[in-house]
Amino acid sequence: MTATPLMLGLESSCDDTAAALVRGREVLASVVVGQSGLHAAFGGVVPEIAARAHAERLDLCVSQALQQAGVTLDEVDAIAVTAGPGLIGGVLSGVMTAKGLAAGTGKPLVGVNHLAGHALTPRLTDDLAFPYLMLLVSGGHCQFLVVHGPEDFTRLGGTIDDAPGEAFDKTARLLGLPQPGGPAVEAEAAQGDPARFRFPRPLLDRPGCDLSFSGLKTALLRERDRLVATQGGLFRRDRADLCAGFQAAVRDVLAEKTRRAVALYLTEAPAAPALAVAGGVAANGALREALRSVCDEAGLRFTAPPLALCTDNAAMIAYAGGALLMNGTRHDMTLAARPRWPLDSAAAPLIGSGRKGAKA
Ligand code: KG4
Ligand code: ZN
Repeated sequence: MTATPLMLGLESSCDDTAAALVRGREVLASVVVGQSGLHAAFGGVVPEIAARAHAERLDLCVSQALQQAGVTLDEVDAIAVTAGPGLIGGVLSGVMTAKGLAAGTGKPLVGVNHLAGHALTPRLTDDLAFPYLMLLVSGGHCQFLVVHGPEDFTRLGGTIDDAPGEAFDKTARLLGLPQPGGPAVEAEAAQGDPARFRFPRPLLDRPGCDLSFSGLKTALLRERDRLVATQGGLFRRDRADLCAGFQAAVRDVLAEKTRRAVALYLTEAPAAPALAVAGGVAANGALREALRSVCDEAGLRFTAPPLALCTDNAAMIAYAGGALLMNGTRHDMTLAARPRWPLDSAAAPLIGSGRKGAKA
């Protein structure tokens, strides 16, 4: 094995089938095949359909990644795979494929926590120094983590119900906008007046960094129904204003909770204080702007990995797997697929489990 191992990574914990080849901080190939078309008619990810699609596509993704990187399976030093948390059928498909590859080639196998993959991505993309603060916001996740090392995380808080991406998607559905809802709601919000509807800012009255988004969606539903009842329908203006009000509420809540998480993080006196944001919702311009100004106020560097590495992918799994391998981690054929796998076992459990599976 070379000093910096060439890692093959596999990811299949939700609705993206992915394979990647990564050596150190160099991404040689990253293949992601989405499944949105397979689930579109059902209004959410159907676990059985997802698992079957992963099982059918994983080996194709692996050969595509090898081809793109111009390497053979023989040249790979180790195989990293998402072993949880996520939809169990999908995680199993990945773990079984990885075990097959490891058994067939004799290469080491490394099981990776999907959340650790997201949390370590700013090291891959920006070489951030430990400890840094991470806000993970997607359709499946929402949590604040202090990242101390490849296997050392402190969770400062997270959602107790929906993830913000789910709230964007549900809002879009309630207003007849296309999926995924985030980009559609953001585009509408740009045309709307955020002050016309004053939506709640859930859990701001409670101390700490936990978040909640399900009440916000209910408030929006109520407002929509009230408008429909009084005017017989929604005008374009109404839709834009509802989106703007909703987005402002999500932005305010995330910004305030980030402020609190930053204060907790700074008590550790990090040498190079930084906040990294990742997950699909990190694409939201209003949110990014708000987070950037929280960082400016507190003297933190603000980073956001490029979107392709922010959303689910296998490069992050290969990278995290490489870091674990260098720490001496090796798994054998008893490696289990775990539907739940909190990064910080000392933190109180999160109760949220939404459309895209367990939140931790
Ligand atoms: O990380 P991701 O691709 O997949 C997982 O959820 O695992 O995140 C997708 C989520 C969707 O809920 C989508 O609506 C949301 O990210 N999203 C956005 C934006 N772009 C994507 N939310 C708000 N604003 C956006 N511009
Ligand atoms: Zn993810």
